[in-house]
Amino acid sequence: MRSTAVAHPNIALVKYWGKRNVEYNIPAAGSLSVTLQGLETETHVEFDESLAHDELKLDGDPVGSGRMLDRVEDFLGLVRGYAGTTAHARVETRNNFPTGAGLASSASGFAALTVAACDAAGLDLPRREMSALARRGSGSAARSIFGGYVEMKPGEADDGSDAVAMQIAEADHWDLRCFVGVTAEGKKKVGSTEGMMHTERSSPYYEAWIDQVPRDIETARQAVRTRDFDELAEVAESSCLQMHASAIAAEPGIIYWNGATVELMKAVREQRESGLPMFFTVDAGPHVKVFCPKDHEDDVSSWLADRDDVMDVYEAVPGPGAHLVE
Ligand code: PMV
Repeated sequence: MRSTAVAHPNIALVKYWGKRNVEYNIPAAGSLSVTLQGLETETHVEFDESLAHDELKLDGDPVGSGRMLDRVEDFLGLVRGYAGTTAHARVETRNNFPTGAGLASSASGFAALTVAACDAAGLDLPRREMSALARRGSGSAARSIFGGYVEMKPGEADDGSDAVAMQIAEADHWDLRCFVGVTAEGKKKVGSTEGMMHTERSSPYYEAWIDQVPRDIETARQAVRTRDFDELAEVAESSCLQMHASAIAAEPGIIYWNGATVELMKAVREQRESGLPMFFTVDAGPHVKVFCPKDHEDDVSSWLADRDDVMDVYEAVPGPGAHLVE
């Protein structure tokens, strides 16, 4: 009853921002992402009948209370329900990048937990069902079950059984590079669930945002299929800005950016206009993710490293879905 899994975060090129069902954590619209190797979470799960409650260690430190432990316990409860066991679990998880800082640790975290916990509980679920289960932990985790280029479907079923991700292209279909430009220290202030729900409740732009997503997914899917970098650049930046615009227009508005985020977004566009192909995307935090074709990775990497407003850079490449190790 013991297993270890590795999962990678993913970065959405067409963003997920809004839920149609909170209890089952079902997205209000689809999304499209790339799973990224270079950043990773490794999670070990062991079910043990003698434990009185679930235990969690993050990066070697016991987590005795708080939101993260609650989410892990709720998730393990679902796995216990599927597997028909009452045993509690010992979970040890490690990230090779900062947790909870807007670098998509919840995506790799819950994807790795899904694969390790299912295996440790003796559950042999198809990938599609694992994706639906991972979604209950974190919406974006449903996408990290798969590698390469991934589309998340909002589905129609009330229980979310068809709100699952699917791979649209293998990791080696298109050799893009992703650089994460870290622009601030510390954890994000408004979590994504809280931010989405506040946006839905109070932003006059929320419905327009949700209406736009299917068109952007169509464009991005086509751009991935044909490896059209300019087209992908345009739709990814526009999806990112529209997601943030909907959040900024909430009452009170949610601003995830800092000054460096804005400077960097503008600088990426200037570089692209002057011939260096790159585009940005930003999630529920201040960091800027910069994508470029492999041929330009050295130029983009040194350009980012030279900037005073970028504190740290992580590099990642399209990679595999969540998988067991050992
Ligand atoms: O998976 P969650 O609930 O942490 O939400 C992710 C939200 C964004 O990262 C901002 C967008 C996305 O599609 O990943």
